[in-house]
Amino acid sequence: MKKILLLASGTGSNVENIIRYFKNNNDIVIVGVFSNNLHAKVLDKTKRHNVASWVFNRTDLNEGLVLEKINELQPDLIVLAGFLWKFPEHIIAKYPNKIINIHPSLLPLYGGKGMYGNHVHKAVLEANEIESGITIHYVNEEYDKGEFILQVKCKIDTGETAESLQHKIRKLELENLPKAIEKFISENDIKTSLVG
Ligand code: GRF
Repeated sequence: MKKILLLASGTGSNVENIIRYFKNNNDIVIVGVFSNNLHAKVLDKTKRHNVASWVFNRTDLNEGLVLEKINELQPDLIVLAGFLWKFPEHIIAKYPNKIINIHPSLLPLYGGKGMYGNHVHKAVLEANEIESGITIHYVNEEYDKGEFILQVKCKIDTGETAESLQHKIRKLELENLPKAIEKFISENDIKTSLVG
């Protein structure tokens, strides 16, 4: 059984979608959802699906408690599914190539600090881009700069608003993130069995 840990800060549409997607999967289990926000809607969703959750603060994240909790769970993959804080280097160092993030733009465009939610879509529209999309990538020490795993594009239509673009992007995220996780897990399995 492969174990996935999710981290999120807000609404949790991606988290809920991932939980639903793997609910009846006998090979992959969601071992928990960690959040930095006690009032995040993601926690209600997680509870509704009977998945364990845990809330932490910045000190917990930066001074070792979050790493301790992760080590207890021994996840095969950590997914930042709408997690807004910078992920600390000491955790990345302990879980190399096992932490991935989803970003609502075609990185390297419109990434980095402050680029989240509608800020991203507004910036894309202000720059008169003709397309946008999602990026699923490894997490490294720099915000939104790790190696890409998958990018999926969408067109920007005439009269597109930040809200309509957000809707398109959300659809792409919901369609692609669970599948990307599934693929990641199975490919890693193949690599491990080749090494072993
Ligand atoms: C998503 O757009 C994701 O790309 C970004 O944060 C958002 C999370 O939304 N990293 P939700 O909490 O899953 O609704």
